[in-house]
Amino acid sequence: MPKKLRLGVLGGSGDSLIGILHRVASQINDNYEIVAAVFTPDFERNKAFASEIDMPLDRVYSDFDTFVVEEMGLPENERVQVCAILTPNYLHYPMALKLLENGFHVICEKPMTTTLQEAKELQTAHKNAGTVFALTHTYTGYPMVRQMREMIKAGVLGKIHKVDAVYYQGWINTIIHDKEKRASVWRLDPEKAGVSSCMGDIGVHAFNMLEYTTGLKVKSILSDFNYLYNDNPMDIDGTVLVRMGDHVKGVIRASQVATGEENGLAISIYGEKGAFKWQQEDPNFLYLLSDTEPTKIYKPGHAYNSAFSLDGTKLPAGHPEGIFDAMANIYKGAAKAIRNQEYNDGEFPTMLDGVRGMDFIEATVASHKGGNVWVDLENQ
Ligand SMILES: NC(=O)c1ccc[n+]([C@@H]2O[C@H](COP(=O)([O-])OP(=O)(O)OC[C@H]3O[C@@H](n4cnc5c(N)ncnc54)[C@H](O)[C@@H]3O)[C@@H](O)[C@H]2O)c1
Repeated sequence: MPKKLRLGVLGGSGDSLIGILHRVASQINDNYEIVAAVFTPDFERNKAFASEIDMPLDRVYSDFDTFVVEEMGLPENERVQVCAILTPNYLHYPMALKLLENGFHVICEKPMTTTLQEAKELQTAHKNAGTVFALTHTYTGYPMVRQMREMIKAGVLGKIHKVDAVYYQGWINTIIHDKEKRASVWRLDPEKAGVSSCMGDIGVHAFNMLEYTTGLKVKSILSDFNYLYNDNPMDIDGTVLVRMGDHVKGVIRASQVATGEENGLAISIYGEKGAFKWQQEDPNFLYLLSDTEPTKIYKPGHAYNSAFSLDGTKLPAGHPEGIFDAMANIYKGAAKAIRNQEYNDGEFPTMLDGVRGMDFIEATVASHKGGNVWVDLENQ
């Protein structure tokens, strides 16, 4: 077993949503050890949280700049090798840029930046750095999503003609209808979230899933948003028509006000020979539909799955694995890349996925604001 990779964590304190997912996922395959952190910009809370999780305080820093200076001052065989960025969106770009410029590997939350311009600058910095950059579109780590990608690549659906991705949540309902509350949430603040709330936070996952599973690129989109209140600058619901080719069309639907919905990400891919349906809240069931045969259900951990899918399961079939395991698979892929080991294409989302995601987000806003017009994505 190679030595564990020395992981630094930025954001993800005890008060955060995503921190625990990264902390647990990074430990699942025994590849990483968290050695340094700025979990929160409040230094006292930062140290208190580190103590709570029983982490030595000598490398718990007051802020990101101190983190970089102090870590760069350590001998290379002690220094953080890879850093996870789990902060609100507006900090992803400056943090990732500085980390790449200083030779760190980066595991970054989505959306990768707050603008396409920043994303492209990061892409250049990444090329120059030559280190590993992984973007945590978590859902690509599910074994049945990987199985879907592999079977589509093998031609099981034939030519694809229709795609449908939906990501419905309802959580903003408790906030959006109250003027004070809606002014206090960073996801509704363009300075912190970027130009979009709903498309930036969850629509981009649906977009990524379409490209990840089909291997096709979205070429153009047309969107229609709902902001619900005139003083709310951010979309909290939207429908996006997508064209992935002249005869490959479909829709991305995303909402944060879909009352009662929890984390309803679902994807359907229809081809001339069959169709796949998969949903995140029931991730261990992949449905293969046909016009002429009964529906088949694929499940993780069986020998009939691809090697790539099987690499993402740890227990014999029938032991449910979930979101922690999906994120762990992304960490596992990133660890292979960092160690220069062989890994599958698609084992972790990349810089290119981040650039394309930012292009999608900006295009949906431009389309809506331009009067619901078709907008082309760049050919990256
Ligand atoms: N991959 C996914 O499925 C998924 C799910 C949820 C959130 N996210 C992404 O994760 C990121 C964080 O989201 P969240 O819901 O956990 O947010 P959150 O508001 O719950 O937590 C943000 C954390 O960052 C810390 N923080 C803020 N400023 C900081 C700074 N300057 N230095 C260090 N720490 C700082 C806060 O103290 C807090 O602990 C967002 O970019 C979001 O889009 C991704």
